[in-house]
Amino acid sequence: MINISDHVFFAYDQIQHRCVAGAILSNSNPKRGLYLALFGVRKSSQHRGLGTKLLTAIIQWAYQTRNRFIYLHVHVKNFKAIGLYEKVGFRKVEYIPDYYSQTPKDKPDAFRMTLILR
Ligand SMILES: CC(C)(COP(=O)(O)OP(=O)(O)OC[C@H]1O[C@@H](n2cnc3c(N)ncnc32)[C@H](O)[C@@H]1OP(=O)(O)O)[C@@H](O)C(=O)NCCC(=O)NCCS
Repeated sequence: MINISDHVFFAYDQIQHRCVAGAILSNSNPKRGLYLALFGVRKSSQHRGLGTKLLTAIIQWAYQTRNRFIYLHVHVKNFKAIGLYEKVGFRKVEYIPDYYSQTPKDKPDAFRMTLILR
């Protein structure tokens, strides 16, 4: 898939000389909301607080750039990601059945989660 987005964040490991985490956001929402379209940490770098660090940096930047909220979709069984999002302040606002129906997931439902910035 080739796509265009507004903001890309990544974490670069200077010892391993490679990108270890990344996030893609778009600001297409007219109410000054940001959509976190993609967020992930390389498997070998997980469980070390990197996801928390990257997401916290994104939230700080979103505040400074006067955005009102950040929203995202997450698979209902992605307990780790949901736990991380809730830890930094996101809340579940909608349950969306069949959101991932185009992908081979056993239960294709999602939560929409939102973090209000001000
Ligand atoms: C989700 C993901 C980004 C987390 O990255 P990470 O660097 O391992 O996360 P961190 O080490 O910073 O934070 C872990 C936090 O997740 C939460 N968490 C971890 N395991 C959990 C579990 N089993 N249940 C609930 N929450 C959990 C906790 O809040 C934890 O924080 P704590 O250690 O202070 O308690 C990473 O697992 C990943 O890339 N997964 C695959 C891609 C993905 O699912 N992306 C999200 C798509 S919406």
